[in-house]
Amino acid sequence: MVTITDIRARRVWDSRGLPTIEVEIRSETGKTTRAIAPAGASTGRREAVALVDGGPVLGGKDVTHALRQMSDVLYPALVGITVESQKQFDRALLEAGGPESSSPVGANTTTAASLAMTHLFAQEAGVAPWQILGDTPTTLPRPQIQIMGGGAHAAHRVAVQDFMVHPLSATCISDAFIQAAEVYRAVGDILAARGHNSGVADEGGHWPDVSDTEEALDTIVQGITRAGLKPGVDMGICLDIAATQFYKDGHYVVGDKTYTAKEWVTELASMSSAFPIVSVEDPVHEDHEQAMVWAVSQCPAVIVGDDYLVTNPKRIEEVPNGSVEAALIKVNQIGTVTEAHDAVVASRKRGLGIIVSARSGETEDVSVAHLATGWQADMLKVGSITRGERTAKWNELLRISEALGNLPMADVLSKPGL
Ligand code: PGA
Ligand code: ZN
Repeated sequence: MVTITDIRARRVWDSRGLPTIEVEIRSETGKTTRAIAPAGASTGRREAVALVDGGPVLGGKDVTHALRQMSDVLYPALVGITVESQKQFDRALLEAGGPESSSPVGANTTTAASLAMTHLFAQEAGVAPWQILGDTPTTLPRPQIQIMGGGAHAAHRVAVQDFMVHPLSATCISDAFIQAAEVYRAVGDILAARGHNSGVADEGGHWPDVSDTEEALDTIVQGITRAGLKPGVDMGICLDIAATQFYKDGHYVVGDKTYTAKEWVTELASMSSAFPIVSVEDPVHEDHEQAMVWAVSQCPAVIVGDDYLVTNPKRIEEVPNGSVEAALIKVNQIGTVTEAHDAVVASRKRGLGIIVSARSGETEDVSVAHLATGWQADMLKVGSITRGERTAKWNELLRISEALGNLPMADVLSKPGL
């Protein structure tokens, strides 16, 4: 049981130099915890909405309205209450914020408050957050580590948003990171030698000046080999296509080519056969359920829903059979830890793999490493192996791994064979 004696929000800054909300909660026993809301750049249409000011200041992203909602709406409703569970707190949070949806006070505020409460429950119990989120884990999430960034995270130089590696043969997290870091360096060297490195994308990956998706994939395969690893045996590739971003007037526009949905899925299927691709996220437009079914049936890779499912338990229950094989889980897509956990449960019920994910706009907050461990996710996705807001999460996972006696990573996700 935790009695809340104070809850406040402040404006802090994320990895894109944009303001976001940090919430701090204090309990009767004098313990204080805090958490920060992340922010997406390629957000799904059905996501819970962050409350931002709009207008000319800071590109419309300032959070003064959200800060006021905290002091005017949430503070009076939450200070003095005693809660026994995360569920009870999140319910109180949503009831105070507005009926049914977290949007009146903003999913940024509710996400930060809900996560801060997870940390407070853990502190009160004298344990790490991952320990109160589920049963004792038997595996750790297998990381997806960004090597190149594109799409909305790198001025759309390449259409595909995320090129990640996924360690397949490493027997522990620690070795997985060594291998991924070697690939990151090797790919950087290859791009630099060709004069093709344009800088760093939003999640820390190389920002490649390449002509198309195949060239990017080819470079990663070369990097894997140069790092002394076998593509498809030691290291696989995961893609986040984020296809809604380049869907225009009924077509997928990729560089100078234009594809119908059918042609685009065929293209992805042949790419997945030609390269050691383990998973493909949001292969088609978020509303195109039929094309998702084609992708599942034609691609040898596991098809992941991010913008397609938006961590929404109801949506996860309702999407057509055979249209997705794994769910990306992001707390701020739905607004609270409880609802995100409901999304995990709903996904498992439908036989979907679980990938807990950070956002492209991030901070030093490491909650996501605890959620992925406590919920026993199959994978964790937080960006590259560079930049503090990314390595904060990986380093926390290393600490958790040590505390758990270096558990094995979850099995590599495989096609369920629908
Ligand atoms: P976002 O991108 O945080 O900008 O939405 C991450 C992703 O699509 O997985
Ligand atoms: Zn995505």
